[in-house]
Amino acid sequence: MGLCSRMSVNERVIVRFAGPEDLEWCVVEDSHVTELVIRNKIVNDEIVIAELDGQPIGYLRLEYLWSNIPYIGVIFIIELYRNDGIGRKILSFLEEFLRSRGHDQLFSSSQANEPEPQAWHRSVEFVECGIISGLNEGGIGEIFFRKPL
Ligand SMILES: CC(C)(COP(=O)(O)OP(=O)(O)OC[C@H]1O[C@@H](n2cnc3c(N)ncnc32)[C@H](O)[C@@H]1OP(=O)(O)O)[C@@H](O)C(=O)NCCC(=O)NCCS
Repeated sequence: MGLCSRMSVNERVIVRFAGPEDLEWCVVEDSHVTELVIRNKIVNDEIVIAELDGQPIGYLRLEYLWSNIPYIGVIFIIELYRNDGIGRKILSFLEEFLRSRGHDQLFSSSQANEPEPQAWHRSVEFVECGIISGLNEGGIGEIFFRKPL
C-alpha cells in the first residue's frame, strides 16, 4: 500500500492562493462575479483554493471592507468533501496570512434563511455581530459574523 492511500482526504488536501492556472475553474464555480474580478483577485491574493490530487475542491473569495478590513465574500467546499475539516483548513490558512499582515479581526456573513452555514460559522469560532435586512433577493436578510484573529 502506498503512502498516499494511507493518508486521509483531509491530510492530502493542500491549501494555497489561487494562481492564473485556476482562473477557469474559479470563473465556472464562482458565477456571482465576472472573470475580470477573479483575475484581479488572483493577482491580489484574494482567492484561496483547497486542492486534492491537483484538482480544486474548495474555494474562498476574500473581500476588504473599506479596503482594509478582511471579509469572507464566499466560501464553499464541493459537496462530496464537506464535513471533513477542509473548510476549517482553508480558514486557518487565511487567518495565518491575515495575522502576518497585521489584521486582528475577520468578518464573514451568511443568509438569514440558511441555518447550516450559520452553524458552521459558530463552530469555527465566529460570533454573530449584526444583520442587514433585505440584502438578498426576495428580501432575505444577511447575518454578519466576526472572529478575532
Ligand atoms: C460551510 C462549508 C464551507 C463548511 O466547510 P466544511 O469543510 O464542510 O466544514 P468543516 O468540516 O471544516 O467543519 C468545521 C467545523 O464546523 C462544523 N460544521 C460543519 N458544517 C456544519 C453544519 N452544517 N452545522 C453545524 N456545524 C457544522 C463541523 O462539525 C466542524 O466542527 P468541529 O471541527 O468542531 O468538529 C461547507 O459546508 C459548504 O461548502 N457549504 C455550502 C456553501 C456554503 O453554505 N457556504 C457558506 C456560505 S456563507
